[in-house]
Amino acid sequence: MIKPESIENLKSIVDIVDVVGNYVQLKKQGSNYTALCPFHSEKTPSFIVSPAKQIYHCFGCGASGDAIKFVMDIEKLSYPEALEKLASMYNFKLEYSKSSSFVRTDVLEKVNSFYIQELYKNKTAYEYLKTRGIKDSTIEKFALGYAPDSKKQFQFFKNANLNIKELKDLGVLSENGEYPRLIERITFPIFSPSGKIIAMGGRTISNHPAKYINFTNTKIFNKSKTFYGLNFSREHILRKKQAIIVEGYMDVIMLHQAGYNTAIATLGTALTQEHLPQLQKLSSKILLSYDSDNAGINAALKASKLLFKNFFEGGVILFPQGLDPADVVKNGDDLNIYFEKAIPFLDFIISYTIQKYDIKNPVQKKAAVDELKEYIFTLPEIIRESFIIKASQFLQINPKLLSVRSSGQSVSSQNKRIEVAEASIIKTLYENPHIMDEIVEYLSTDVFKTHQKELKLVYEEKFDDPELLDIVLREDILCLDMEALKKQIIKLLIPYYQNKILKLKTSNLPTDEKMHKLKILNYKVLQLKKGELVESDSTV
Ligand code: GTP
Ligand code: MN
Repeated sequence: MIKPESIENLKSIVDIVDVVGNYVQLKKQGSNYTALCPFHSEKTPSFIVSPAKQIYHCFGCGASGDAIKFVMDIEKLSYPEALEKLASMYNFKLEYSKSSSFVRTDVLEKVNSFYIQELYKNKTAYEYLKTRGIKDSTIEKFALGYAPDSKKQFQFFKNANLNIKELKDLGVLSENGEYPRLIERITFPIFSPSGKIIAMGGRTISNHPAKYINFTNTKIFNKSKTFYGLNFSREHILRKKQAIIVEGYMDVIMLHQAGYNTAIATLGTALTQEHLPQLQKLSSKILLSYDSDNAGINAALKASKLLFKNFFEGGVILFPQGLDPADVVKNGDDLNIYFEKAIPFLDFIISYTIQKYDIKNPVQKKAAVDELKEYIFTLPEIIRESFIIKASQFLQINPKLLSVRSSGQSVSSQNKRIEVAEASIIKTLYENPHIMDEIVEYLSTDVFKTHQKELKLVYEEKFDDPELLDIVLREDILCLDMEALKKQIIKLLIPYYQNKILKLKTSNLPTDEKMHKLKILNYKVLQLKKGELVESDSTV
């Protein structure tokens, strides 16, 4: 692990202008620099770098962050990898702490060797693997074993002089240290990409209700980042430029046994954002080969959406109803026939989203359009168009019906209407956060008509939110001095309270209450007109 103080030291010497300047051509403009955004395609620059704030921001696609984030995104690196890259740019020597993440993986090797021995001692366990169609050479390659009863295991831990605390930290023992996590199960060691055992999973052979159990996350094992089988497939994936993602241990094992050596699996979890950096490093086509049941198809749909949006190529393989890849291999089928028929992500996402609806019925057709739009909204602009065109063909509708304004958080301010009076108040607060406590007393967010959301973001001090940055980084919005700020706020408050008065007059509140409130509101307007700020209160 990199020491936090070392990270701080590195940050203090890094200059965002240098860093970004290594990748894109910057042009000085006012106090900032501008460039064509490296994160989406554009013809006129909407990407700016602010040396004063040490951040970059794109008004077009919403990308923003500091120098570290920039390197992470442009080089597709993890946080520590980006730090290492920056350190090498600046010839800076990072310091690492040894103690915290240092765990002895040789303990896991010892436990696993014990499980392997037990497999050959336990006839039922060994026979089980045989009936599943697993060859001896495969058992050996994947280092499969058998975890016996608790008593036998503790006996072994004692004889081998293994430390209970260490066994707990590594996940072999339960949290309270009272029992081994895997009992009477076939064991599957989980390897790091470099081939070290980092955790284990186990399958019951006695119909235990939990079919599989995996170790919980530990210092050396993060379930949602790890792929089972990657240590065996990595080189094949890099060579063939193709990875097959399956759902389970058995699928990986059976595919490898049949010669499909690019198979990997997530560990009983869905494919998530956290898995992507690993996949990006492989820069290969992805074939999703999930169980052919409802759960599998839904998981494939979610995974396809995630992969497509992150620019992965590939598709989904569908097997006959109810089968998983392990079954198909065991049947002796040639999987290449299925692989050739993989449905590209784009087609799969559209057809399986639409499939849920009866699109002959206009109401349902609209629901299908709405569901697609929700996804389109999250797509980077550069792939949005191809998605919209394809989807409109599927639905036989005008592509315009599927166009959305912008993606996720990244609201494009190039065509966003900016209300100058409100925007300048927001910018002033952003630049002078110390006056916020006072202003918040006078100016409630509902006073704003256009930029309520951004005012709320400043109040909540979400200073790096892209929508807020869309306003505060604009050169054409000016910061106000305190006098001008006060005047500007008063100018907005007068019509705000006058409007309240109008509404109150036509309301059907009891007369006394009405009179009381009117009195307060009229007084407020009077004060404001005299140039005095008045506190907002929610009772009127
Ligand atoms: P077999 O019946 O042995 O062929 O299982 P499978 O490989 O077909 O597994 P399945 O499709 O049922 O599940 C896929 C993956 O989900 C497994 O490899 C496990 O990682 C995980 N999984 C399945 N059942 C459980 C469970 O009961 N608990 C947990 N935690 N994970 C499970
Ligand atoms: Mn399965």
